[in-house]
Amino acid sequence: MKALKIQGGKKLNGTIRISGAKNSSVALIPAAILSDDSVVICNVPEITDTDALSDILDYLGADVKRASESIIIDSKSVINKKITVELSKKLRASYYFMGALLGRFKHVEMSFPGGCSIGSRPINLHLKGFEALGAKITEKDDYYIVDAEELRGANIYLDIASVGATINIMLAAVKAKGITIIDNAAKEPEIVNVATFLNNMGAKISGAGTSEIRITGVNKLSGCFHEVIPDRIEAGTYAIIAALCGQKIKIDNIIPEHLEALTSKFKDMSVNIEIGSDYFLISEKDNYKSTNIKTLVFPGFPTDLQQPFTVLLTQANGKSIVEETIWENRFMHIDELNKMGANIKVNGTKAIIIGKTSLHSEEVIATDLRAGAALVCAALISQGTTIIKNAEHILRGYEDIVGKLTDVGAKIEIIEI
Ligand code: EPU
Repeated sequence: MKALKIQGGKKLNGTIRISGAKNSSVALIPAAILSDDSVVICNVPEITDTDALSDILDYLGADVKRASESIIIDSKSVINKKITVELSKKLRASYYFMGALLGRFKHVEMSFPGGCSIGSRPINLHLKGFEALGAKITEKDDYYIVDAEELRGANIYLDIASVGATINIMLAAVKAKGITIIDNAAKEPEIVNVATFLNNMGAKISGAGTSEIRITGVNKLSGCFHEVIPDRIEAGTYAIIAALCGQKIKIDNIIPEHLEALTSKFKDMSVNIEIGSDYFLISEKDNYKSTNIKTLVFPGFPTDLQQPFTVLLTQANGKSIVEETIWENRFMHIDELNKMGANIKVNGTKAIIIGKTSLHSEEVIATDLRAGAALVCAALISQGTTIIKNAEHILRGYEDIVGKLTDVGAKIEIIEI
């Protein structure tokens, strides 16, 4: 098992360059299956989640080459094999192979997807979308079998604006006959990035980034070159770290418009931030005001930054309230933060934080990816050396976290325990 060992209390200085978005990449890699030629996707982060998806492509017989930040995928020789438990359990996003294989072969068999335990995480909306397109779904021994004689465009209303369901339905519909309209679609930037990729391959998708996406089916998708957008959650996490313990930190290679919900809260708290065209410059400040956040779908405050942001609130003077509305189990970092000296009480979907409290080192457990990121934030401002166990969760989503933080002056290493 891997752990992160962090000696806290250092002031950080310098530039942190943000990698490509995990939650775009994990959809783009399976989507490559839909192309008849090879595709080049650049700015793909080297994290274990993207490795796990490349492994599934390998297993299906695609030719996958990794060249520094790019991945070149040739899916001509893909065989539509059953995706086993071992492959699909490694990450949630393995479910994008459902939409992609269904779109290409009209048939897919795969085990239930894995991922962080942050809630029940059903995929009923994905399946409802596939059914609307004409597929029949059978559940057998922990496997889904999704089969269609023909996929036909349909009007699909999503009860919840789900990121995964929106993308998966786009993947399945892109080669269906006729027009598909997804209503109450999710509007996250990653959806726009995936739609752009599919359009670069020859798809006809309009409206991505709004709540109505229109897909006109095409017969063939070709090769293309595509760039992954910067990871807004990685950027937000490092911006929070900069506000916590940066003297002067530049967060570089970002799209600031994707982080307006965060920067608006920074301003409420009086964080010292300069917002550039593709960077944030955050300078030291030691007196923050408390504030409240409520997680919402984009462009609201992202649930994936809720856990790291809670650590910043422990350093604000007074009472702050965090309300989590997306995932029912995303407060697992709170017990660990309280062990480190925070004063946080959970009441249903709300966490009440009383600050400012000084934090101290502890042996803590990363229960999921962003809980782990929150513990990294806390460890960096704690007196003493913190050990964060289950660091594998963190490495799933943050490319070279140790190198990036070391470069700005943190004392952090990965150890085997
Ligand atoms: N939901 C359903 N039925 C469905 C799908 C979703 O009830 O068929 C519910 C979920 O249970 C949840 C809500 O809808 O309560 C939103 O789920 P969504 O489908 O939008 O989430 P997701 O696609 O599974 C992606 C990200 C998550 C991020 C959420 C919300 C990926 C691989 N994952 O998950 O990222 O929290 O959107 O923005 O893109 C992370 O990076 O740490 C992470 C968990």
